Amino acid sequence: MTTQAQQIINLDKLKQYAAAKAVQLVESGMVIGFGHGSTAIHALHGIAQRFKEGSLRDIRGIPCSRHIQAEAERLGLPLVTFDDIESIDLTIDGADEVDTQLNVIKGGGGALLREKVVAQATAYEVIVVDDTKLSPQLGKRWPVPVEVVPFALRPVSAFITELGGRAQLRETSTGGALQTDQGNYVLDCHFGPIANPEGLALQLGEKAGVVEHGLFLDLTSEVIVAGAEGVRTLKRNARP
Ligand code: A5P
Repeated sequence: MTTQAQQIINLDKLKQYAAAKAVQLVESGMVIGFGHGSTAIHALHGIAQRFKEGSLRDIRGIPCSRHIQAEAERLGLPLVTFDDIESIDLTIDGADEVDTQLNVIKGGGGALLREKVVAQATAYEVIVVDDTKLSPQLGKRWPVPVEVVPFALRPVSAFITELGGRAQLRETSTGGALQTDQGNYVLDCHFGPIANPEGLALQLGEKAGVVEHGLFLDLTSEVIVAGAEGVRTLKRNARP
């Protein structure tokens, strides 16, 4: 096995550990947000396992992507939509970069819009990561994904340049623009270290054609981080 393959396996183990810890927070009767990505899917599998064993009852899930919806259906987990519920008790989701204030960049998997809708409707948002995602300042390690309607691709790209960033259209592995679950495009916007995430979030939010951006500020309740030294929890708010 190559060193790179071994590193991927090791990283996936850390993702599993973080997700497993988060699954312990799920209680019977909860409405749960099912996050998207290679870490959050471990949590989905853990929840499905507990549901199958009977240690979790009367749970209902709301998936952050069509991919996760299909996987949850395959696992036999009960799903709901926003037509059925008013709020979500707990969401377990991944992140691409986490700063010291527990603000995060999300959207590496392209599901940022639904992830933010779910996060904003969630009472307790748990982010699960391996420790390579921790960062002293957002933007140091990851660009900010921006979902944009195809019609507005050029003006929004120009706007990102005006803001001092560099917008890169996200492509599929086979080439061509990646389309989100909503049929939009994603611009990965390289700003470098972001001095004022709140200000940037406001500017991005005001631009016509921007559907959503991957700056998730003040939405995280708890981050579960797995690293070589074990699993630890970083908390912002006390659990309700
Ligand atoms: C999906 O759109 C993202 O926000 C993911 O949660 C994020 O990219 C983390 O993904 P991984 O857990 O696969 O690293």
